[in-house]
Amino acid sequence: RTLTALRTKLLNWFDTHQRDLPWRRDAAGQFTAPRDAYRVWVSEVMLQQTTVAAVVPYFERFMSALPNVRALAGADEQHVLKLWEGLGYYRRARHLHAAAKELVANHLPQFENGEVGTGSDQNELPDDPEVWEALPGVGRYILGAVLSQAFDRPLPIVEANSLRVLARLFGYRKDPREGEGKAWVWSAAEAVLPQKRAGDFNQSLMELGALICTPTAPACDQCPVSSHCVANRDGLQDVIPPKKKS
Ligand code: ADE
Repeated sequence: RTLTALRTKLLNWFDTHQRDLPWRRDAAGQFTAPRDAYRVWVSEVMLQQTTVAAVVPYFERFMSALPNVRALAGADEQHVLKLWEGLGYYRRARHLHAAAKELVANHLPQFENGEVGTGSDQNELPDDPEVWEALPGVGRYILGAVLSQAFDRPLPIVEANSLRVLARLFGYRKDPREGEGKAWVWSAAEAVLPQKRAGDFNQSLMELGALICTPTAPACDQCPVSSHCVANRDGLQDVIPPKKKS
């Protein structure tokens, strides 16, 4: 099936072309699959309104200072905000902090006096979508990003890059950022998502949008899925998605 071929091509491209970004490694610098949930979560919150290049140094500083969810929960707010200083959207930091406290208080293994944890969140953070959904600052994007990348759950995600890729692939002419377009793009993301390696697949769409399927002058000659792409077939790369109304 063409859908199977599309998924395979995107995953193979991601395996060979993904950028080496710090949240794609664990605290010891190793690539793991699935990935450390705390690192995925913090990085995705930072990436929501900020570019990859700007996030990298903040992410590294944040991880050195607060390497796991217990450290974040135990930090005082001024410390967390200080680490966030310059990233903007401080509400994201406050929500992240509040959510960490909630997780540690109610959804992590509780230790007896004197007992200590492993210090790793890999298997400590919950994989239950309902727990995550109820946390402050966790919308559909963060939910899908964390559960797919850290727990292999087949939940879709949509952000600015993947939205452009999906609209072009399927030749969607309306604005995928507005009204019925939003619903369309989330359904499209769900429909193309494989049941296995959902986290890498989600990232492959974002990475393709960042590196190849760029807003202007996309490099279709280097695109692994150009033969599946309606916009490429019909020469519509410049009009899909439509320019944002200013
Ligand atoms: N933008 C937001 N999250 C991302 C990720 N995990 N990889 C690449 N770009 C992203």
